[in-house]
Amino acid sequence: MATEDWLPAKPAQKMAIDGDQPPSKYISNNKTKFGPVETSPPFAHVPIINIGCLVSSSKHEDQQAELAKLRSALTTWGCFQAVNHGLADSYLDNLRQVIKQFFDLPLKEKSKYSREAGSSQGYGNDKTYTANQVQDWCDRLSLRLLPINQRQLRFWPEKPSNFGETIDDYTAKIKSIYMVIFEAMAKCLDLEENVFSKNFTEENDILLGRFMLYPPCPTPDAVLGVKPHSDRSGITLLLQDPRVEGLQVLNDGKWYMVPVIRGALFVNLGDQMEIMSNGIFKSPIHRVVTNKEKGRISVAMFTEPDPDKEIGPVEILVDEKRPRAYKTVKDFAVFNHECFQKGIVPLDAVRI
Ligand code: OGA
Ligand code: NI
Repeated sequence: MATEDWLPAKPAQKMAIDGDQPPSKYISNNKTKFGPVETSPPFAHVPIINIGCLVSSSKHEDQQAELAKLRSALTTWGCFQAVNHGLADSYLDNLRQVIKQFFDLPLKEKSKYSREAGSSQGYGNDKTYTANQVQDWCDRLSLRLLPINQRQLRFWPEKPSNFGETIDDYTAKIKSIYMVIFEAMAKCLDLEENVFSKNFTEENDILLGRFMLYPPCPTPDAVLGVKPHSDRSGITLLLQDPRVEGLQVLNDGKWYMVPVIRGALFVNLGDQMEIMSNGIFKSPIHRVVTNKEKGRISVAMFTEPDPDKEIGPVEILVDEKRPRAYKTVKDFAVFNHECFQKGIVPLDAVRI
């Protein structure tokens, strides 16, 4: 694996404020696979799943209907919009406000939390692995949220003063939503409810939070907020910005814009779930486009198994009709990230 060659670059937010034209390394057209940038493709009509109907206490028929919808969502799109998840609009607005307040701080203040070379945590922009890597028009703060003893508090902003408690509370709430989804994924395949969740127990589970700012970009036709990738995670839960769309998913070779539904959380599977499900569930390729006038804030929570744990297709999903589709992987998160920065699709590299 290549060693990281990270040089601090001018944050996208600062370039936007200074009125800079994006430097050539940000221009993505014809440099990435998966086609040129399209700023307004058709909407992705991905299923809307009522999380309240997935919990065991819900009415049997409601649960069965929702599980069928979930199965269809995950085998076709690999993603869905989650509603009735128990988090109020005002709660989510407050969370976005806290993130906005962080990004609104002067650069000097934010730089106290800058990511260091070799670390994935902290404030910064795209890590650079190769000279011809296309850069994302996006600034991020990445934090390991769980397990709690792996938090590196020196990267946790002190301003706004409620940052820590807000993120801590959101972490706990997201974690319980995750458990409902993991069990529902097993049930919708008629499997025992812990087949997936057991890889994400308290001791094994890592939860990573990524808080992103996509500043307005003068050339949205040529510059992406995030280049095409699939997530390294088991599952990703994304809080979008209600004021502006940006996220796109690839389905059957075509790009679709993910609509913004107020109060919904966008859920997409990552590569490790596609592997565990032996390819039954999809880990969709997705990207983010920029906008000329509007900046966008998003909050992504990635749950992934312990890097030391071996992850492979669950045995019960491997049979003569569906032979093993993926090799067993370890420390896949790092592998996924490096592959995409180099333009390789990580699942292609582990497919049998
Ligand atoms: C990601 C991602 C989408 C977004 O961070 O992996 O796909 O809308 N983010 O910020
Ligand atoms: Ni992603």
